[in-house]
Amino acid sequence: MALLEILQLPDERLKQVSEPVEVFDDELRAFIADLEETRLNGPAAVGIAAPQVGMFKRVVIIDCSTTRKPVPNHGYMVLVNPEITKWDGFEKGREGCLSVPDYTGNVIRATKITLSAKDPYGEPLQFDMEGYEARAAQHEIDHLDGMLFVDRVVSRRTDLFKRKVYQDGGTGKKS
Ligand code: NI
Repeated sequence: MALLEILQLPDERLKQVSEPVEVFDDELRAFIADLEETRLNGPAAVGIAAPQVGMFKRVVIIDCSTTRKPVPNHGYMVLVNPEITKWDGFEKGREGCLSVPDYTGNVIRATKITLSAKDPYGEPLQFDMEGYEARAAQHEIDHLDGMLFVDRVVSRRTDLFKRKVYQDGGTGKKS
């Protein structure tokens, strides 16, 4: 396993649209293991997306089981070629990102989603998600389409916040 370098704003590669995974092989699973090791390095992020480490494939990892405040969640998930098929409600909430280490921001996201994906072996998955986990999934899928939370903040003047410390605990966990 290996730690991967995380691309940070203003790296133009973060705007690249990632390609669907077509081959579910050992090489893919070895990459996913490295991506997970990278997610857990330092203060663990709730999510990470492959393009954040310069791999432009539609793969994300999410794990909201370790947030300080308990939230409804499915624990550790590897989502290959994730697609959101249903959205419901909307809510403004704070987000952070490994690729934007110095800021957090308020973003409007759907409160409930249904998501389909494949697992690392190509088997189909489906999840109903809500709240913080649904937010994390929407944030990570945005990375696959070359979008960062700073592209979606409600107002750059009132909804973008400089981090006081590297890790601020309960709010704005990086993903
Ligand atoms: Ni992110």
